[in-house]
Amino acid sequence: MDWSVLSVVVLFTTCSASLPNFIVIFADDLGFGDLGCYGHPTSLTPHIDRLAANGLRFTDFYCTSPVCSPSRASLLTGRYQTRSGIYPGVLYPGSRGGLPLNETTIAELLKPLGYATAAVGKWHLGVGPNGMYLPTHQGFDQYLGIPYSHDMGPCWNLTCFPPDVKCFGLCDIGTVAVPLMHQDVIKKQPVNFLDLESSYSNFVTDFISTSAFSNQPFFLYYPSHHTHYPQYAGPRAAGASLRGPFGDALLEFDNTVGHILDTLEKTGTINNTLIFFTADNGPELMRMSRGGNAGPLKCGKGTTYEGGMREPAIAFWPGVITPGVTHELASTLDILPTIARLSGARLPKVQLDGVDMTELMLRHGKSKRATMMFYPTDPSEKYSMFALRLDKYKAHFYTRGATHSGTVPDQDCQVFSVLKAHDPPLIFDLESDPTENYPLSLDNEHNLHSLLEKILEVKARFEASMVFGESQILKGSDPGLAPCCTPLCQPKPSCCQC
Ligand SMILES: *[C@@H]1O[C@H](CO)[C@@H](O)[C@H](O)[C@H]1NC(C)=O
Ligand SMILES: *[C@@H]1O[C@H](CO)[C@@H](O)[C@H](O)[C@H]1NC(C)=O
Ligand SMILES: *[C@@H]1O[C@H](CO)[C@@H](O)[C@H](O)[C@H]1NC(C)=O
Repeated sequence: MDWSVLSVVVLFTTCSASLPNFIVIFADDLGFGDLGCYGHPTSLTPHIDRLAANGLRFTDFYCTSPVCSPSRASLLTGRYQTRSGIYPGVLYPGSRGGLPLNETTIAELLKPLGYATAAVGKWHLGVGPNGMYLPTHQGFDQYLGIPYSHDMGPCWNLTCFPPDVKCFGLCDIGTVAVPLMHQDVIKKQPVNFLDLESSYSNFVTDFISTSAFSNQPFFLYYPSHHTHYPQYAGPRAAGASLRGPFGDALLEFDNTVGHILDTLEKTGTINNTLIFFTADNGPELMRMSRGGNAGPLKCGKGTTYEGGMREPAIAFWPGVITPGVTHELASTLDILPTIARLSGARLPKVQLDGVDMTELMLRHGKSKRATMMFYPTDPSEKYSMFALRLDKYKAHFYTRGATHSGTVPDQDCQVFSVLKAHDPPLIFDLESDPTENYPLSLDNEHNLHSLLEKILEVKARFEASMVFGESQILKGSDPGLAPCCTPLCQPKPSCCQC
C-alpha cells in the first residue's frame, strides 16, 4: 500500500474507529446518455447528479456483458462471466443453475471482517433448487427483492403506474407471476409495482440505521429494477418527469438514491461510506422512447459496441474522493479488488480480472487497467471475445446486431446484421471517435501494424489465461423450480398467486 493511500485509510479508521461502509448501486438497462449528469436534456436525476457533482464521474467505465446476469456475476466476483459460467444469455425463473457457490462475492469477502450485508432489488444470479442460489446463500445477511427481471412473468394485467395504468406489453406469459421475496420466502406474488420502491427504501433505511446504531460496518448492494422494461413508478414519481414512463421510473430510482443519502446523513455515516453507482448494460433501444439512451455511443443492449457496455459510473465519498471527472479505463470488475483494498479484506485465491481502483478514485491517479474484453451474450471458446480495448483503441474481431438494439436507424445495430468476422479487426480510436464511426487505416494511423501486433499479443496472452467455467445457463430450466407461493397448487403457473 502506498503511503498517501495508507494515510487516508488510517485517517478515517482512527477518526471513526470503524471500517468504511460500501454501497453499490446498480441500475438496469441504463444507457450512457440517460442521466442528467451525463448530458440527457430532460431526465430528472438530481440525487444521482449530486453524487456526480461531489464525486468522481467516469467517462470510460465498462460492464462485462451487454446483458443482465453475466454482468452481475462479474460485478460481484471481480471475474469475467466466462469463468463463473454465467453465460450464454441470462438465467430464468426455473433455471437449474446460478452463480456457483464456490465463487466469492463482495459480500462473502467482507463477512469475515464483521460487516453487515444486504441486497435489495434485482438479483438475477439464480434461484435454483430450494433457493440455493439466492443472495442469502451468497454472503448477504438479508435480501428483499425480485430474484430476476421483473418482466419474467406475465405483466399485462399488472398496474405499473397509478391510479391503474397497466404495464406496457405482455412480459413473459407462461411463467409464474413475478414474486417479491424476503430472504428465501415469497412475500407476495405477483409483486405490487406501485409500492415496491417504497418497500425497498424502508428496507434500506432500516438496514443502514440498524448497522449504524450498532456500530457495525455495512455493505449494501442495491441492484435496481429501474429502468428495465416494463417501466413502473409509485405515486411520488408517476407523471412527475418530463420524459414519460422511462423518465418516471428513473426519477423514482433517483428518489431512492436521495433517500439513501438522507439516511447516511441522519445516521452520521455519510463521511465514512463509499457509494459506487453504475449500470449492468446499455439501453434496450428496441423499446424505443421507453428504452434508454446511449448518448453519443453506437448501438445498445445486446451488442459489443460501446453503447452496449460503456456505462455511467460515479464514485462518491465525501472528504475522501475529490470531485472531478476521469477518462481513465475502469470496469465493474474492479469494484471487488477496490473494496478489498479499502477494507483490508483478503482477496479470494482465484484468478481475478479486476484491478484496484484506489489510486484512481482517491488521488485521480492512473488506472491499473489497460485492457477491456468484450464478450458477446453467448461467449464461446471458439469465437472468444468479440472486441478488445487497449488503452484508447478498440479492435472488433466480430460484430453483430441484436434484437435488443434493433429499432435504431444504424443498420449495424439491427438483428439482421448477422455475425461478421473482421480480419484484420476493425480498429477505432475511442478518444477521437467514441461513436465508432471511422475505422483506422494506414492513412490515418501510421503505426497501425505495430498497434495490431500489440493488440493480438494482448489478446493471445489473455486467452491463455481464460478457463471457461461450466455453463450454468445450459443446465436448462425446470418449470417446477420457478418460485411459487403455493407450491402444490394447480394449475401452474397461473395458480401461483398470494
Ligand atoms: C468451483 O467448482 C467447480 C466444479 O468443481 C470448478 O470447476 C471451479 O473451478 C470452482 N471455482 C472456483 C472459483 O473455485
Ligand atoms: C387479466 O384480467 C382479465 C380481466 O380481469 C381476466 O379475465 C384475465 O384472466 C386476466 N389474465 C391473467 C393472465 O391474469
Ligand atoms: C461530513 O464532513 C463534512 C465536511 O468535513 C462536514 O461538514 C459534515 O458535517 C460531516 N457530516 C457528518 C454527518 O458527519
